[in-house]
Amino acid sequence: MTDHYAVFGHPIGHSKSPRIHHYFAKQTGHDLLYTAQDVSSQCFETALRTFHAGGGKGLNCTVPLKEPAFRLADEVSPRASLCEAVNTLYWREDRLHGDNTDGVGLVRDLSVNLGIPIQGRRLLILGAGGAARGIVGPLLEKAPREIVIANRTLSRAEELAERFSSHGPVKVMAFAQLAGQQFELIVNATSASLQGDLPPIPNGVLAPGGCCYDLMYSEQPTAFVQWGEAQGARLSIDGLGMLVEQAAEAFFLWRGVRPATSPVIEKLRGRPSG
Ligand code: ATR
Repeated sequence: MTDHYAVFGHPIGHSKSPRIHHYFAKQTGHDLLYTAQDVSSQCFETALRTFHAGGGKGLNCTVPLKEPAFRLADEVSPRASLCEAVNTLYWREDRLHGDNTDGVGLVRDLSVNLGIPIQGRRLLILGAGGAARGIVGPLLEKAPREIVIANRTLSRAEELAERFSSHGPVKVMAFAQLAGQQFELIVNATSASLQGDLPPIPNGVLAPGGCCYDLMYSEQPTAFVQWGEAQGARLSIDGLGMLVEQAAEAFFLWRGVRPATSPVIEKLRGRPSG
């Protein structure tokens, strides 16, 4: 029987996850169905139980369900526990397991696909919401020289830095304090790109040869990707690769096989490979 997986979230209409998982299934010869379901926070628990009762094997959760998924899981992985958010769920012997593959997805896209070094580098993260919380731990594991978190609401950045202070060198700056600083990698984890906005970053903070990465992705370059290009970034890129990498890690958790990601990233960028 075909195994059923899904992504739950709201809104969900433009999700690329069904396409990605169908590419993975085809590539690995796995028989599975992957659908997208519009599920609000209020309906989440009922939708989850209904999905499982109908034979559903595993789920991805996106905005606004990552924190509720963390609370509903019977068991969570250490990396999900650290950021108190779950983007991948699966049942084993009727116990609901939660994991978070977002951070590892970003790190793999940076290190493996794009060749952007992290070790020994000075990183700037813009934003201190859920998206930022998911990436700080996995980035610190790669031993950067320092991570600076800048956020409009400074107290949120302080909370985030405090949470990860025992995991590596993290500090906080207001946007206005960034002038005169230099970073080799700037990651935009604000939701500003969703509105076509740009966080208030001063010019000149990108070190020569540095890179910019927007966790958001869109058909047209985001305002932040364009800012990076204008600042002379060696590479200024959106988060499509991270999306595919987090999906590959979820696929691995569910199916025990790690699909090749590069051909899928190429297909989604409209550059079919071989
Ligand atoms: P997510 O789960 O996507 O991270 P969130 O938890 O609502 O969503 O966090 C959104 C982040 O984007 C926050 O860091 C927010 O800054 P504040 O904490 O000060 O609200 C940031 N953000 C959203 N729009 C922004 C904008 N136009 N300029 C700068 N920061 C913005």
